[in-house]
Amino acid sequence: MAISGFETHVHDVLVVGAGGAGLRAAIEARARGASVGLVCKSLLGKAHTVMAEGGAAAALAHVAPDDNWKVHFRDTMVGGKLLNHPRMAQLHALEAPDRIRELELWGAVFDRTADGRISQRPFGGHTYPRLAHVGDRTGLEMMRTLQDKAVHSDVDVYMECTITHLITGPGRIMGAFGYWRVTGEPVLFPAKAVVLATGGIGKAYEVTSNSWEYSGDGHALAYLAGAELIDMEFVQFHPTGMVWPPGVRGLLVTEAVRGEGGILRNKDGERFMWKYLPEDRRQEYAATDEEAERWVEVTAQGRSSEARRPPELSTRDNVSRAIYTEVKEGRGSPHGGVYLDISYLPAEHIRRKLPSMFDQFKELADVDITRGPMEVGPTTHYVMGGVRVDAETGATTVPGLFAAGEVAGGMHGANRLGGNSLSDLLVFGARTGAGAAAYAARNAASAYVDPSQAYRAARQLSAPLEREDGEDAYAIQRDLQAMMQSLVGIFREEADLREALGRLTDLETRWQSIKVTGGRMYNPGWNLVFELRNLLTVSRAVTLSALQRTESRGAHSRVDYPEQDDRNWGVINSVICRGPDGAMMVARSGVPPMASELRGLLGAAH
Ligand code: FUM
Repeated sequence: MAISGFETHVHDVLVVGAGGAGLRAAIEARARGASVGLVCKSLLGKAHTVMAEGGAAAALAHVAPDDNWKVHFRDTMVGGKLLNHPRMAQLHALEAPDRIRELELWGAVFDRTADGRISQRPFGGHTYPRLAHVGDRTGLEMMRTLQDKAVHSDVDVYMECTITHLITGPGRIMGAFGYWRVTGEPVLFPAKAVVLATGGIGKAYEVTSNSWEYSGDGHALAYLAGAELIDMEFVQFHPTGMVWPPGVRGLLVTEAVRGEGGILRNKDGERFMWKYLPEDRRQEYAATDEEAERWVEVTAQGRSSEARRPPELSTRDNVSRAIYTEVKEGRGSPHGGVYLDISYLPAEHIRRKLPSMFDQFKELADVDITRGPMEVGPTTHYVMGGVRVDAETGATTVPGLFAAGEVAGGMHGANRLGGNSLSDLLVFGARTGAGAAAYAARNAASAYVDPSQAYRAARQLSAPLEREDGEDAYAIQRDLQAMMQSLVGIFREEADLREALGRLTDLETRWQSIKVTGGRMYNPGWNLVFELRNLLTVSRAVTLSALQRTESRGAHSRVDYPEQDDRNWGVINSVICRGPDGAMMVARSGVPPMASELRGLLGAAH
């Protein structure tokens, strides 16, 4: 079919992004009778979901009988420094166990306990061993299962297709416009509802666990269509990425290494995490090496509550700051990281529980992790901020536009606990698929998609190919990544953030005059142009929000405001929106109120 001369595919629900959240949304929308199109930039199956290696958090209580949704809810809120949307955190904790069991019914093969139930492992900030896992390949197994289910649910998959523009109608979303990465030809997707499930923004930084796809596409598309973004200052630096060799810098070293007992040491052999435990939570952690070692032993036997957890299982924000500080103060390893050692455990156990880590270090760094330590350092991994959504349905503030997974904000507050993203994408992928299908059923398709928007989008796509000369997209990307890494990284301060805003203005100006050589087919330089527009958009959102929040909380650390300021910022989300003149604006709004029974669950924690 063709509308206005464009190749056209019409659906009730169009899902953009085919990681875990997109797949789960597509499966749900299809199950509710909607015709569903699923668009992905890569081949189906290649998604950052596979980088959640260590497991999916769900209070199944298989290993720790005392675990339940209330403890999971409290851990999530405490880890997120109470900026989380409380209803999202509640739904997540309540529904994660069912979503995991459902995945098992669909064919996922989880590791087992001795009595044959889904096994669960410890992770930072979780009171109990809670992560359902498949060795250190959990995300991969989830993707395999969801992909299989989606393909057999009759979802139409459009691979290697980039969406560059959302099409709007009177007060709502009408579809999306993009192009095929292989041929460069444009394509139009009229749809009653569009679900964004595009993942994160990691490629705004130099050192990241994210691959090329994670350029903030959904964040930018939503913003440009008039949706609000919240809490964009909260970027998660995972404590452990590879630091060497240079070609794999940033590649994830799963938190499961620490969950299985991995110890962090600096170049002097000091187990430095003891120094960095937050005073008010110190009682939750082992006090000595012996007690930490005992925890590893009893946890392996399913009796974790008999000892307190090791200091390495503090929350990610805290461990990343600790590693950064050790390196900055001259106690780092030769390649600018610290040591992570699990080699004191039996080699057979390490190879069984961490098979990918074993292969990764052997093949890429020639290190045998059963015999010696790994060198690791922080890597940009995840963004807690994202599109503001309704907790029940995933609806954004723009009618017909929905968001789920990493691109959606609110669930994780100021810092995400490891393992909570896999359960988030299952819970809210399903809810958002249902929400979008219901919206599509209520709202008739318009046969009319404004062709002027598609023509304008097509002209914008062509412009960089038609200029006589101009800026190089790769040079702009390199400059952006270096700037974000040095000025808007783990520690921030006002002067740096102001400088970053100035540099962003220069980069945005350079973006306007990009010249791409070659044609439309197989042209990675051209593919980069609109990803760069998105990266520049999210970088400005992160920087403006970081400048506005004059306190340190979770993953946002201000050198000039080192304290958490509960009086002024304790219940405040930052909000990014597009002003009437098209300029980006930053504002504040209250965190949605917490029901009193939920407040009661926070107990002594707050
Ligand atoms: O370390 C990891 O395996 C990552 C998990 C996550 O981001 O949830």
